[in-house]
Amino acid sequence: MAALLNPRLDSLFDYPFERLRVLLGPLSPPPDVTPLSLAPGDPQHQPPAFIADVLAQEASHWNGYPPLRGTDRFRDACHRWIGRRFGAAARAAVDGERGILPVSGTREALFLAALLAVPEHKDGRRPAVLIPNPFYAAYEGAAVMAGGEPVFLPATADTGFLPDLDAVPDALWARTALVYLCTPTNPQGAVASPGYLRRAIDLARRYGFVLALDECYSEIYFTADPPPGGLAVAAGMEGGALDNLLVFQSLSKRSSAAGLRAGFVAGPPGLIDAFARLRGYAAASMPLPIQAAAAALYDDDAHVRENRDRYAAKVAAVGRTLGDRVPHRRPQAGFFLWLDLAPLGLDGEAAAERLWTQAGLRVLPGRYLTRPGADGRNAGDPFIRIALIHDTETVAEAMTRLADTLAPARAAA
Ligand SMILES: Cc1ncc(COP(=O)(O)O)c(C=O)c1O
Repeated sequence: MAALLNPRLDSLFDYPFERLRVLLGPLSPPPDVTPLSLAPGDPQHQPPAFIADVLAQEASHWNGYPPLRGTDRFRDACHRWIGRRFGAAARAAVDGERGILPVSGTREALFLAALLAVPEHKDGRRPAVLIPNPFYAAYEGAAVMAGGEPVFLPATADTGFLPDLDAVPDALWARTALVYLCTPTNPQGAVASPGYLRRAIDLARRYGFVLALDECYSEIYFTADPPPGGLAVAAGMEGGALDNLLVFQSLSKRSSAAGLRAGFVAGPPGLIDAFARLRGYAAASMPLPIQAAAAALYDDDAHVRENRDRYAAKVAAVGRTLGDRVPHRRPQAGFFLWLDLAPLGLDGEAAAERLWTQAGLRVLPGRYLTRPGADGRNAGDPFIRIALIHDTETVAEAMTRLADTLAPARAAA
C-alpha cells in the first residue's frame, strides 16, 4: 500500500488539529464545566446577513462552470477594496483584469503557490522554501509536496516575531525558490513594517524567488494605523511594479466568512496568468453566486469595522482577566494569543492536557505550529495558542479558568 503513495506525504506531520485530537482523545474534561474550544481559527462571529440575499438572487447560476479568472464584478470589488485598504498607489499597481485571481480560500492558493514557484533545481541544487517558524501548516505541506526543502526561519520574540532576513546566508538565498511570509502573523499577532516588506521584496528580486505574502489577517488589528501591505510597499518602490510578489487575501477572517471559501491572490499579470493556468488543472473555480457574495463583502467596510471592534474588546478582556497572574503579550493584530508559559515553568503540551482535564479548555500546543531549529530545540515548546473566537464574555470566562488552572498560586496571592 505504502508504495502506491507519494512518500513526500510521509515526511509531513499530521495537521495540527489532528495531533491535538490524538493528544486529548483519551482524556476527558471535568463533568461540571462546559467544554470550550479555543484551538481552531474559525471565527464565531457571523458574516453580514446580506450575503444570504445575494446568494438567493444569484441562485440561477449554480448550473454552469464559473469563469476561472473571476467575473468583472468580483475583480472590480477586490480592486476597489485594495484602493480603500492599501491606498490609490496599490490599486494602480494592480492590473484589475490580469492581476487579481479569485481563489476558493487562501489555503489552496498558498499550497498551489509552491507548485507554481518551485522548479526541479535552483542554483544547481534542491530548491529551498523559506517558512517562518511558527507557521501556518499549509506552507510546509506545500513546500514538501512540491519537492522543495522547507527551511524554517526563527520568528521569536528575539526577531520581532518575523524571520530575520539578514540572518539568511547568501548560499541559501541563491537556492531559494519561494518565501512564505505572513503579516499580521499567525500565531504571534505581529505586524511587518513597510521597511521589512521592502527588504523582502528586494531580496526576492535580487535572488529570483517568489515572495508569497499571506495577509489574511490584514483587517483585524489593534494598532492606530492599519498593518502595511505588500502591494502598497511594492507600489512605492522604484518602478512601482509587483514583480516576484504574490499577495493572498481572504474573506475568512475579514468578514467571518470562512465557510464561503473565498479570497483572492494579487500580483503581476505574468505571475497571475501562470497561477490561473495552474488552477485550471488543479482547483475549482469559485461558483458564480459565491463570487457575487464575495464581491458584496469586499464592497462593504462597515461590517469589518464592527468585526475588528469585537476582537479589540476581547483582547482588552484578556488583558483585564489575565492581568499579571499570567504574563502575556498583547497581540497587535489577528485573533490569537501566543502565550509563553516559560515564566510559569510550564510546557505547552502538558499545559494543553491540564487545561482540558481541569478546565475543559482546548488549546493548541505551540510545538504543533513550530519545528525544531538546527540545535534541536523547538522554540514552540513552552507556548500554547489560544484563538479569541468566542464572544467577549466567554473569552473572559475562559481566561479566568486558564489563570485559575495554570497559575493557581498567584490567584491565592
Ligand atoms: C495564516 C493563515 N493563512 C491562511 C489561512 C487560510 O484561510 P482561508 O483558506 O480560509 O482563506 C489561515 C486560516 O486559518 C491562516 O491562519
